[in-house]
Amino acid sequence: MTPKPPRIAPPEFGAPMEAAHPSEAARRLLALRRSASADRMTEPGPDDETLDAILEMAARVPDHRKIVPFRFIVFSRAARVRLGDVIAERFVAANPDATHERIEAERRKLLRAPVVVAVVACIDSAHKTPAWEQELTNGAVCLNLLLAASAYGFGANWLTEWHSYDERVMNALGLKGAERLSGFVYIGTPTEKPRERQRPQMAEIVSRM
Ligand SMILES: Cc1cc2nc3c(=O)[nH]c(=O)nc-3n(C[C@H](O)[C@H](O)[C@H](O)COP(=O)(O)O)c2cc1C
Repeated sequence: MTPKPPRIAPPEFGAPMEAAHPSEAARRLLALRRSASADRMTEPGPDDETLDAILEMAARVPDHRKIVPFRFIVFSRAARVRLGDVIAERFVAANPDATHERIEAERRKLLRAPVVVAVVACIDSAHKTPAWEQELTNGAVCLNLLLAASAYGFGANWLTEWHSYDERVMNALGLKGAERLSGFVYIGTPTEKPRERQRPQMAEIVSRM
């Protein structure tokens, strides 16, 4: 078995740091990053210690005025089973004619990967930092989570799906007030390699002034 990579401890507050980290491995990760499908994941996922390191990396994002407008929920299997029942119940309420197979697929949704993390946006719309910027920070957290999982050798998938917009499902998750779901990030070992998808034509999205 390959030894577990050691945790890279964050420096003490105020410690001198490198402003850049030139690295062929990091360039490859960024140039070739691809989501793994949550529908095609299996064991193993990161163990608790590795997941803590991944979350620490994910939380290391640009954040205007350092207000930390996000939090993580890490689910146990039992919690995912409980939440799956709520998802199935809400699915049936919205789709009374759904087949048994379809309902059971909804119930098992959160069991598709060995590890599932919810990224919760805790946006303070009264704060001096605009809500838009707090939302952007949430996007950065989710992407960082995908990148960190990949750097540890796991596949990851950022999904919202309909249930992230269902109030009762979100209540069951313990979301309060203005909290919203930035996404569920599924982490595990891909059972098959993804293929490249279409990417933006750079000439269409890059202009120079
Ligand atoms: C906020 C957000 C929510 C997403 N939700 C879904 C989803 O519900 N279902 C889905 O198939 N893909 C969803 N995606 C897209 C996938 O995460 C993934 O990015 C996409 O399949 C493209 O693959 P790539 O990450 O390899 O570029 C979402 C992406 C974002 C940014």
